[in-house]
Amino acid sequence: MKPVSRPLHRSLSPWLAAPLILVALTGLTYRIGRSWFGMPKEVGNQVLDFHTGMWLGKGASLVYTSMVGFGLLALTISGAVLLWKSRAKTGSRRWHRIVAWVLVLPLFASASTGLLHHYGELVFGFEKDTQSLLMNIHQGNWLGPKGRPFYILWVGLGLLTLVVTGVSMLRRKTSVTAPKTLAS
Ligand code: HEM
Ligand code: HEM
Repeated sequence: MKPVSRPLHRSLSPWLAAPLILVALTGLTYRIGRSWFGMPKEVGNQVLDFHTGMWLGKGASLVYTSMVGFGLLALTISGAVLLWKSRAKTGSRRWHRIVAWVLVLPLFASASTGLLHHYGELVFGFEKDTQSLLMNIHQGNWLGPKGRPFYILWVGLGLLTLVVTGVSMLRRKTSVTAPKTLAS
């Protein structure tokens, strides 16, 4: 079977770099602003409108959230296959892998709960309990009000590191491929 993870991962990342930076920065600004800097709820809601694309209107925000959400899911799944099947030792490739190991599950959870919450609100009319369960997982509420800002710092700064190390690999023509024997 022709290896698909690396070409898929590599071809998606240039399109997703900028929206993923915006998602990470708005998620970080909202949580750290509200938890540690007393950011007013109205300002928080404006930040979340940028996080979900609601500033573009309901219809466009569904397209935007689908693109970022399904895009991050595709990067996470193809990246997980690459983590399993390839080896690399040096530079940004090594740092990308180290961060990828600790973030593959939280980013899968962020993307899927974020997508479900937005579609649940605008399309499927999910119950309030379902919506708050999705947000509890999405932003680490299970760590309590004191712990959840640290969860968002970890996920947000980790995602930014993946984008920066990923983009630096894009600029390099050559990619470290696994020995021919291992399908990667
Ligand atoms: C949880 C999410 C992610 C995981 C698990 C992941 C995992 C990986 C792995 C294991 C590799 C192969 C490194 C090697 O050759 O040893 C890789 C390569 C790469 N990643 Fe990611 N990554 C993730 C997110 C991202 C993001 C957000 C971007 C950029 C927007 C990105 C861009 C790249 C690029 C450009 C490469 C080089 C592909 C090549 O060798 O041709 N990745 N990623
Ligand atoms: C592609 C991935 C993501 C999608 C589709 C997404 C989507 C969403 C949605 C729909 C909401 C609810 C907004 C509202 O209540 O109006 C939300 C809230 C939030 N998201 Fe994300 N998100 C994603 C990734 C992230 C990441 C990576 C972080 C971490 C930096 C994050 C942090 C937050 C925070 C802190 C909230 C506020 C929760 C609250 O209402 O208290 N999100 N996200």
